[in-house]
Amino acid sequence: MIDLSINFAGIKSPNPFWLASAPPSNSAYQNCKAFEQGWGGTVWKTIGEPVMNVCNRYGGLDYNGQKLVGLNNVELISDRNIEDNFKEIAETKRLWPDRAVIVSLMVESKKETWHEIVKRTIDTGCDGLELNYGCPHGMSERGMGSAVGQVPEYCKMITEWVTEVSTIPVLIKLTPNVGNIQIPSRAAKAGGASGLALINTINSIIGVDLDTFELKPSIAGKGGHGGLAGPIVKPIALNMVSQVALDNEVNLPISGVGGISNWQDALEFILLGSTSVQVCTAVMHYGFRIVQDMIEGLTFWMEEKGFNSLDQVRGKSLSRIDDFGNFNLLHKTVARIDQDKCIHCNLCHIACEDGAHQCIDLISENGKSKTIVREEDCVGCDLCSIVCPVEGCISMVRVDDGKETKTWNELVADFKKDNTELTWEKLRAFQKRYGIEIH
Ligand SMILES: Cc1cc2nc3c(=O)[nH]c(=O)nc-3n(C[C@H](O)[C@H](O)[C@H](O)COP(=O)(O)O)c2cc1C
Ligand code: SF4
Ligand code: SF4
Repeated sequence: MIDLSINFAGIKSPNPFWLASAPPSNSAYQNCKAFEQGWGGTVWKTIGEPVMNVCNRYGGLDYNGQKLVGLNNVELISDRNIEDNFKEIAETKRLWPDRAVIVSLMVESKKETWHEIVKRTIDTGCDGLELNYGCPHGMSERGMGSAVGQVPEYCKMITEWVTEVSTIPVLIKLTPNVGNIQIPSRAAKAGGASGLALINTINSIIGVDLDTFELKPSIAGKGGHGGLAGPIVKPIALNMVSQVALDNEVNLPISGVGGISNWQDALEFILLGSTSVQVCTAVMHYGFRIVQDMIEGLTFWMEEKGFNSLDQVRGKSLSRIDDFGNFNLLHKTVARIDQDKCIHCNLCHIACEDGAHQCIDLISENGKSKTIVREEDCVGCDLCSIVCPVEGCISMVRVDDGKETKTWNELVADFKKDNTELTWEKLRAFQKRYGIEIH
């Protein structure tokens, strides 16, 4: 029996799939509908200060016919009356006691104001709080959102204000608009956080209209920086989640957010240390129903791999992460083309010729072009296999015997031992010894 349930710092959820704090989690109607479809939890759209949103608040990035690979927004927190929100949060939790209902909060940086909203929110019966230190537009100019997440001292201070009165777990939602995500994570931990959620949106301008010269989205001719989300941000989110998961000084449960559209995306976040995952853009694009495929896909995958619970899966890829200095310099691969699968588009030739090491020859055979890799010159960069449009047509084949290893750190240490410096000449001699030829 596959068990998808999680316990996130004491918050229980039947599966790891939560709605992110965003338009899909704006009301009781939406959150209850999402729970009917199977979502394990929700992070209620951020409530707090009185705000008013503008029309044309989103900008979409389409790429090569694929709609919404990125979604930019200048939306603020919830502009619905806060009393309606409190009532609806309580109602939702009453109707769905087995689901995780977490409420996202953002108010001005005053201790009493935070104390007041925390107490009122806890009175709704919700399971946890998520403090929004991430919104990079509109609220940050007023000293909230990412203006807090970017200053570790504020991060710690406000977290302390909240944790000193909160009786339920407190998650901190971090902004990716920082140099090193471990710094605000540690500050949140020092302030008493029970868990972290990352990432919020990335500061960005999605585009410019070439006819009107206006930014997208245009609000009566004006525009500005907004927050970027959607599939395009996933690699950034995965990296940040892993950095936090690997930080022994943090050691808190993580809710992974950013570009998750399907069970495979979600699983990548779990393999890199996330306990729960949150979704916004994919729900805005395809609706709540996508969770059914997520639950089914993850369950089948676990069955196939022989896992019973997510505890056995979480963080499994973290041990694979290492510094460049520890990679094996003697690991050698070359590109091999399966001529039976090749459709003679020549993209690999162009890519290798102009973007790599000029070792895919284009020859003519029976009136047809044919691409051949000169393996002795191939540096195994992988570019051709990435650009090839035919699945499995170009494979990277390992050609070293796997017996010897030498990392950059070891190489430098060898020279240090001999009291010598690493020079280009010595590096060439090392390469020559192992038959490595780089033109
Ligand atoms: C239109 C929009 C509104 C959002 N509003 C909030 C918000 O009120 N509070 C918050 O913490 N995050 C907010 N977010 C950020 C999302 O919760 C999430 O962190 C981000 O969109 C990345 O996830 P995704 O790629 O699945 O969309 C918003 C995102 C979008 C696109
Ligand atoms: S792996 Fe790189 S160097 Fe080798 S053939 Fe492909 S593109 Fe060229
Ligand atoms: S990119 Fe792939 S399909 Fe196109 S010529 Fe190269 S090997 Fe053949």
